[in-house]
Amino acid sequence: MRSILVSTLILSGLLFSSSALAQTGTVASLTAEQARGKTIFENKGNCTSCHRIKGVGARTGPDLSEVGARRPEQLQTKLINPDAEINAANRPYRVVLKDGTVVNGRLLNLDTFTVQLIDDKENLRSFVKTDVRSYAFVDKSPMPSYKDKLSDQEISDVVAYLSSLRPPPGQGRGGRGAAGAAPGGAPLAAPPAAGRGPATPATVDHPN
Ligand code: HEC
Repeated sequence: MRSILVSTLILSGLLFSSSALAQTGTVASLTAEQARGKTIFENKGNCTSCHRIKGVGARTGPDLSEVGARRPEQLQTKLINPDAEINAANRPYRVVLKDGTVVNGRLLNLDTFTVQLIDDKENLRSFVKTDVRSYAFVDKSPMPSYKDKLSDQEISDVVAYLSSLRPPPGQGRGGRGAAGAAPGGAPLAAPPAAGRGPATPATVDHPN
């Protein structure tokens, strides 16, 4: 019961932070290339079936509202070979129940008695460890490779769009060169973005 309450709080935290982002997000005008990338993101690429940007899209994958902090080469690699590099906070997680049912998702919380994740249908799931056969991170990303699904041009358009996704000016990380924001410029290695869910449980070690 207590753990369900805790999970609800965590989830409402996620909801709150994404709606806060939606409100403060700046509507920057996009270049033609970025605009094409946005269309591919929302349509042909079907990225919104897993990802959210500024409040729009699904929650099974990480929120990409500030993914422009990543280098374009990293973004391109992600689209071509998703397993190559998975950010620690986003590592996919899998629970196998004693009856063999497999539940894939993102880890939200792990404590002595329970494990909680958001599953790949966006449901919040809580399991008592005694009902579970195994629980562990997995190395294979649920994200498909777009190598054969999008052309080189389409991939570079999507990368251009993702690179445009930055925190609104004045929210600490700067990087846009806006007057008055982050004097001296933001460091290249930005800290993990807020609003991406709790980072700590994703690094917890536990027996398999
Ligand atoms: C089936 C669900 C799914 C689809 C569809 C999908 N992704 Fe992902 N994506 C994920 C998951 C889950 C992760 C986190 C694990 C990882 O990094 O591999 C991720 C990670 C990412 C990351 C890395 C984010 C970071 O902070 O490190 C980027 C960038 C990304 N996706 C972009 C895209 C784009 C662009 C598309 C569409 C062309 C797309 N994804 C389609 C599930 C998906």
